[in-house]
Amino acid sequence: MKKIRIALIGVGVMGSLHARDIQALENTELAAICDINRTKADKYAEIYGVPAFYDHRQMLEQITPDAVLIATPHYAHPPIAMDAFARGLHVLTEKPIAVHVEAAQEMIAAYYQARQQHPRLVFAVMFQQRTYGFWKKIKSLIEDGELGKLVRTTWIITDWFRTQSYYDNGGWRATWKGEGGGVLLNQCPHNIDLYQWFVGMPQRVTGFAAIGKYHKIEVEDEVTGFFEYENGMVGHLITSTAESPGTNRLEIAGEKGKIVFENGGLTFFRNRYSMFEQIKTSTSGYEPVESWKIEVPYQHHGQPGHKLVIENFANAILNGEALIAPAEEGIHSLTLGNAIMLSSFLGRPVELPLDAAAYAAKLRELIENSRFEKNVLEREISDVGSSFS
Ligand SMILES: NC(=O)c1ccc[n+]([C@@H]2O[C@H](COP(=O)([O-])OP(=O)(O)OC[C@H]3O[C@@H](n4cnc5c(N)ncnc54)[C@H](O)[C@@H]3O)[C@@H](O)[C@H]2O)c1
Repeated sequence: MKKIRIALIGVGVMGSLHARDIQALENTELAAICDINRTKADKYAEIYGVPAFYDHRQMLEQITPDAVLIATPHYAHPPIAMDAFARGLHVLTEKPIAVHVEAAQEMIAAYYQARQQHPRLVFAVMFQQRTYGFWKKIKSLIEDGELGKLVRTTWIITDWFRTQSYYDNGGWRATWKGEGGGVLLNQCPHNIDLYQWFVGMPQRVTGFAAIGKYHKIEVEDEVTGFFEYENGMVGHLITSTAESPGTNRLEIAGEKGKIVFENGGLTFFRNRYSMFEQIKTSTSGYEPVESWKIEVPYQHHGQPGHKLVIENFANAILNGEALIAPAEEGIHSLTLGNAIMLSSFLGRPVELPLDAAAYAAKLRELIENSRFEKNVLEREISDVGSSFS
C-alpha cells in the first residue's frame, strides 16, 4: 500500500501522540519532524529515525512530503497551513483551525485558491470526537427525524477541570497573545463542533464569559452561551474549567421527544405523537404527551479517535474517501466561540454571520492592553489523556 508521507509540525503533547500514530498506521509514514524547540524536534526525530527541522519553511524548502500535520499552538495553524497549500501539500490541522474567524477565512480562501492548481488537495481538521459511536448515533437520530422539529439543545460541559499548574505550564497557554482564548478555544472546540454538527448554526448569539474567575489567567474560564435559531430553536452551552466534579450532559428536545446523553448513557424519551399537537388539541391543562423511555444502543469503536482521523485523512488523499472533518467546517465552531466572546465583551447579542473584523480588532486590543504577567513553570505533562477527554 502506498503510504502518505507526513511532515509533523509541532511535537508537544499532541504532536508526540500523532508521531506515534503516523508511524503505526499502514497508510502513513513520518517524513520529518519540525519544532521550534530544538530539543523536542531532535528527540522525536531520533526516536523515529527521520530528519529534524526547527523552522517549517526551511523544512518545506528542503523536503517534499505529501502532507503536513500541524500540532502547534493555534495561532500558528493558519500561516503554516497556507505555506503548505502554496506548495500543493495536503494539510491536517489540529483544532481549532485558527484563533479567530478572520484568520480562518484567509486560510480557507488560500485552500480554495491552491485547489485551482491541485484539485484533489485535502484539508482536514482533528475533530476526532466525530468518530465516537454515541455522537454518531445522536447525529443519525436527528437526521432521521426521530425528534421531529427541534425546540432546545442544551449542553452542560463543565468537566474540563484544569488546575493553575496546567495553565502555568507552557508560556502560550491562556494568554491573549499566546493562545487567544481560554476554555472556548482550547477545551471546548470539540463540543462546539459537535453541537453545530448536530443542530446547525444559530442566527443570534449571546455570551457571558468570566475572565480568569477561578484561575490566574487573562482569558475565559467560565462561560454561558445562548443561541437563537431562525426556526425558533434555542441552544445553551455552559462550560467551565473550574468545576469538580464537572458535568457532561447533552439534552436535545424536539416535538417527538428528547435525547439525553450523560455518563455514557444515551436515553431517548420518545413521544407517541407530536408535542405541538398536544399543546393545540389536549383538553387537559397539564397532561404531557405519553412517552417511552428507551436506552439507545450504540457501538463505540474504543480506538483512539486521533488515529482514525489521520487514517481517514490519508485515505482521502489516496482514494478520495470522504473526510470525517473537512477543515472548512472548523469555521463554524470558531464562529460560535468568537461570537460568545464578542457578545460578552459588547454586553449585547451578536448576529451571525459574525463581524469577523470586529472580533479580530478586539483581540488585537486585548493583546496590546495586556498587563498580565504569566508565571511559567515548564514541566512534563504526565496525564495527557485528560487533554482530550
Ligand atoms: N485534538 C485534540 O484532542 C487535542 C488535544 C490537545 C491539544 N490539541 C491542539 O493541539 C495543538 C497543540 O497543543 P499541545 O497541547 O500539543 O501544545 P504543546 O505546547 O504541548 O505543543 C506545541 C508544540 O508546538 C511547538 N511549536 C510552537 N510554534 C511552532 C512553530 N511555529 N513551528 C513548529 N513548532 C512550533 C512548541 O515548541 C511545542 O513543542 C493546539 O492547537 C491544541 O488545541 C488538540
